[in-house]
Amino acid sequence: MTESGKVATVTLEGKSASLPVHSGTLGPDVLDIRKITADLGVFTFDPGYGETASCTSKITFIDGDKGILLHRGYPIAQLAEQATFTEVAYLLLNGELPTTTEHDAFVDTLKSHTLLHEQIRNFFNGFRRDAHPMAILCGTVGALSAFYSDANDISNAASRNLSAMRLIAKLPTIAAWAYKYTQGEAFVYPRNDLTYAENFLSMMFAHPSEPYKINPILARAMDRILILHADHEQNASTSTVRMAGSTGANPFACVAAGIAALWGPAHGGANEAVLKMLAKIGSKDNIPEFIAQVKDKNSGVRLMGFGHRVYKNFDPRAKIMQATCHEVLGELGIKDDPLLDLAVELEKIAINDEYFVKRSLYPNVDFYSGIILKAMGIPTSMFTVLFALARTTGWISQWKEMIEEPGQRISRPRQLYTGSPERDFTPFAKRG
Ligand code: CMC
Repeated sequence: MTESGKVATVTLEGKSASLPVHSGTLGPDVLDIRKITADLGVFTFDPGYGETASCTSKITFIDGDKGILLHRGYPIAQLAEQATFTEVAYLLLNGELPTTTEHDAFVDTLKSHTLLHEQIRNFFNGFRRDAHPMAILCGTVGALSAFYSDANDISNAASRNLSAMRLIAKLPTIAAWAYKYTQGEAFVYPRNDLTYAENFLSMMFAHPSEPYKINPILARAMDRILILHADHEQNASTSTVRMAGSTGANPFACVAAGIAALWGPAHGGANEAVLKMLAKIGSKDNIPEFIAQVKDKNSGVRLMGFGHRVYKNFDPRAKIMQATCHEVLGELGIKDDPLLDLAVELEKIAINDEYFVKRSLYPNVDFYSGIILKAMGIPTSMFTVLFALARTTGWISQWKEMIEEPGQRISRPRQLYTGSPERDFTPFAKRG
């Protein structure tokens, strides 16, 4: 952060405050309002934090109007096309792309942490078989804190790194086992001869009774899906991780909080909601009626997988996801899937409809990721779990950055109170 040299003067009823303006390397300048309460006696009001920079960060940059997404300065399209997920994870965590030696060491360390404590295996039995896998993921990741008490030593850099590696390494195992458990199938242990994405597919789809053959096109698609979801600046779940972390909570608890925030349909739950929406629409003939419902403000129906808080042009991740979608469908020889045909038709109609054009509502990453995952045989209930698995890398990188920031303080927003003014307590007898 540098001083731009600019100062904004805010005047209120004869008092004035001079607010410094800071510049980042990219993006709009930010007005530093930290002195406004002391100088003017007011808070600022920004529900949903749409106009508020809550921190400084060197990890991810988004320009929503231009459809730009950079991780540590590298465009997402270049990373998705040329890097692997583990390279991107290293980049997010450490700030630079790894050399071959650094990458090998990073992957070796991850592989040494892919197994779960056998006691965690027992933990799964506590869940109902029909539990949503996000519930299992959220509970089990939080429970990791009970196994690694060294994670509480957040002032120790080695402890922070160890927790980060444990989380990135163990998430695929927990995620795949959450699925296996709900299916009543045997848990498949991690295979350290496979890549990160291959190993996840193996733990999801292999059976101990027979060899499992990895399809390289599907493994590459899975790797790309993980890259595209790895980080996304200060979104709801990342802000939740940072907020929980600002209290000094251990990183497993913070990531469990992030998983909970990701679960909702306005955020990570959208890819699951897209598939449910397509199933509800049922056939192309019903699209006009559905679109009419979406436009009717009283219906409460939204076109899931469309729109974004930040991207008001296009979601750069969606473009790559769309291409990957065609690759996967081609590889699997899927031509006439009614749900997929419906999705393509819905997209065509919506991007040409004035309602969506006027509001800059374009397909987001989740519109296509749901379709690809379905084609790959991933059950709908696992879609958000996959998002969480990928985003854990971003969450833990953002958590580390926050803890390592000098002068880091607890997050504590204020409010505009609209409740009753102070009044005296009345006992039951006088309440009538
Ligand atoms: N369908 C229909 N109308 C919409 C939609 C939609 N998906 N999204 C926004 N609008 C309308 C909204 O009704 C409002 O209209 P008006 O100006 O007439 O009142 C206008 O567009 C602006 O909407 P908003 O609610 O102020 O926008 P927001 O920035 O608060 O919401 C969003 C962003 C992602 C929550 C929203 O677009 C949405 O609910 N989309 C569907 C869910 C979804 O796909 N979420 C995944 C986001 S990408 C993955 C991730 O990063 O988590």
